Amino acid sequence: MSGEAKLIIQDLCHHYPDEYTGESVHALEGINLQVYENEFVAIVGPSGCGKTTLLNIVAGLLPYREGRAMVDGNEIHGPGPDRGVVFQEHAILPWRSVARNIGHGLELQRVPKEETRRRVQEYIDLVGLSGFEDRYPHELSGGMKQRVAVARTLCADPVIMLMDEPFAAVDAQTRITLQDELNRIVMATAKTILFITHSVEEAAFLGDRCIVFSRRPGQIKTEIKIDIPREERVWKDMASNPKFTNARDEILRLVRQEVTSDDEH
Ligand SMILES: Nc1ncnc2c1ncn2[C@@H]1O[C@H](COP(=O)(O)OP(=O)(O)OP(=O)(O)O)[C@@H](O)[C@H]1O
Ligand SMILES: [Mg+2]
Repeated sequence: MSGEAKLIIQDLCHHYPDEYTGESVHALEGINLQVYENEFVAIVGPSGCGKTTLLNIVAGLLPYREGRAMVDGNEIHGPGPDRGVVFQEHAILPWRSVARNIGHGLELQRVPKEETRRRVQEYIDLVGLSGFEDRYPHELSGGMKQRVAVARTLCADPVIMLMDEPFAAVDAQTRITLQDELNRIVMATAKTILFITHSVEEAAFLGDRCIVFSRRPGQIKTEIKIDIPREERVWKDMASNPKFTNARDEILRLVRQEVTSDDEH
């Protein structure tokens, strides 16, 4: 990991206004976070603690007033090609083929056709969709659609990838396959990723660091380093890897504390 922070968040707070009652919802409080080049940072925390709010702010989809958020040294003021977003529901375009969905970002950036074709093919191969280039989303399984969404974002080569529960809507077996694949892709492409998940196992399996949020208003409760070389991160070996099981158990304990204290209120 190099010393350069690709994403810097300083003292970020967020309140959603409530037009009906006039009372605001305090979603985030005092978030300080840096994501370094080639780093995979996973965020977990109780439902409603502000994870998506944070991701939307970084994506430029939600304006913020309190604190700072910067990508590559540039203050965030709206969406931009330096950030690629993968949502829970595959936001792919139903009227475009697999190849044209994956190349969409490059088209928008007016990358020359030949280079687009080459890069699209590279990412189609990388996510295991070779042979499906000309298929349309309705002809694909949920897991395949999610691969298209991941490939589309990777292909546009953003400074940072922002992923919000990208595998939540697929079945358990497909999810494990997609996690293994994402790990392989991270090894192959050295991307910088901010990844939100409800799954403690997913966070421990994929993250170099896992940030645990408190309940709302979301604050960073703690962070856990997961020091497992990428090559060793293969699901079939994880149950016998104490670095993985210890990290998973610790993250689970911390998240449970938050959920339990929620119940007491
Ligand atoms: N557009 C909005 N207007 C008002 N309040 C909102 C809005 N979006 C989210 N909230 C509130 O902000 C808080 C944080 O929501 P957010 O979606 O960021 O949580 P989350 O951590 O992503 O939850 P989950 O794990 O369930 O996806 C919640 O209390 C939610 O009700
Ligand atoms: Mg969310």
